[in-house]
Amino acid sequence: MSLDKNTTVGIVGAGTMGSGIAQIASTFGHEVYLFDAFPDQLKKSEEGLVKILNRQVEKERMSQDEVDGILSRIHFVDHLTDFKNCGIVLEAIIEDLQIKQDQFARLEAIVPKGCVLATNTSSLSIASISSSLEAPERFLGIHFFNPAPLMKLVEIIPGISTDQTVQKDARVLIDSWKKTTVLASDTPGFIVNRVARPFYGEALRILEEGVADAATIDWAMKEIGGFKMGPFELMDLIGHDVNYKVTETVFKEFYYDPRFKPSFAQKRLVEAGRLGRKSGIGFYQYGKNAENPAPNKDKQLGKKILNRILAMLINEACDAVFMNVATIEDVDLAMTNGVNYPKGLLKWADDLSPSVVLDWMSTLQVEYREDRYRPNPLLKRKVRNDETFYG
Ligand SMILES: NC(=O)c1ccc[n+]([C@@H]2O[C@H](COP(=O)([O-])OP(=O)(O)OC[C@H]3O[C@@H](n4cnc5c(N)ncnc54)[C@H](O)[C@@H]3O)[C@@H](O)[C@H]2O)c1
Repeated sequence: MSLDKNTTVGIVGAGTMGSGIAQIASTFGHEVYLFDAFPDQLKKSEEGLVKILNRQVEKERMSQDEVDGILSRIHFVDHLTDFKNCGIVLEAIIEDLQIKQDQFARLEAIVPKGCVLATNTSSLSIASISSSLEAPERFLGIHFFNPAPLMKLVEIIPGISTDQTVQKDARVLIDSWKKTTVLASDTPGFIVNRVARPFYGEALRILEEGVADAATIDWAMKEIGGFKMGPFELMDLIGHDVNYKVTETVFKEFYYDPRFKPSFAQKRLVEAGRLGRKSGIGFYQYGKNAENPAPNKDKQLGKKILNRILAMLINEACDAVFMNVATIEDVDLAMTNGVNYPKGLLKWADDLSPSVVLDWMSTLQVEYREDRYRPNPLLKRKVRNDETFYG
């Protein structure tokens, strides 16, 4: 069964991501069944969607008819049996392997044979979730970013057993929702959550070494690098509990590769309950009378900070290509559309020249003699062959 506008979409989990995905699917004309195990959550989701969509009418971005249509196509249900006519089901429940596996085993007994099953997991492997299924060939990862209706990027992740047609059909469907899809292999962090690690990790390392404080590092990345937010502001926004957990998971999943080593500075914040904006304090203070230090706007220091973090980011982007996680184009699309980087990292490498980036990496490696700073073989090869990434 191929997927099109007439496909009924099932969504399991009416939290942040599930509600957002329901809004998108309904906006593009699908009948949507949104299920949650907790009735209160369903109610919260419905109220939230009504509020968000009504705001669109107030801002004259949508007509009342459009909004009424979107809301009328979303069916908030507390029984999975309502999924019996679904052509695709997207799961966005709690990030717990056993609970996701149980949920899919239950779903498989209800949905039609040709129904595609997908997970929005950020950190679990597609293979591990699919192992509970009788027909794992219909299963894949479809990874949206938060907030789903606004973020353009969706990572499509086939598992070890996923049928080629299922992968193709799912991608065509998500493309029809005006998303930018990229194909990623079933490896820890997929593209974005892997390639973005040094943005946080190297910034934390620079802080821990005492090279500069959080405000100065954030200033350098924004003012000189052109990033929308600095790493510390962004970690405070994401929440240190969430950001630390992703780093720790990626580190463990990569068999403790020192490139992904978590930081004590961030761990201490989590232990102290300083989770960022949501708890009023993280690296910065929030609230009415909050006083935060001003950055040191020394241009030379700023450039040194930017170049170090950028070198590590580009090196990681190279590794994703080198290890066949994704293509050069998809890695760049993922970082510009998934986390709003000002430029694709491999395009950035070309603009700087791969030899300049290799020099930065080699300098770090000589200085520290740590495996963390090993230049990626693909970067070395590009320099040796006098090639660029898009050449
Ligand atoms: N929040 C993000 O930034 C983000 C981004 C991309 C992917 N994800 C992934 O999306 C998934 C959902 O994340 P979220 O942030 O929307 O979480 P959330 O906590 O906002 O929502 C999870 C929902 O699942 C429901 N739920 C829990 N157990 C259930 C069960 N057994 N059956 C049905 N419903 C159940 C909860 O009631 C809740 O409504 C996770 O796998 C997460 O890793 C999250």
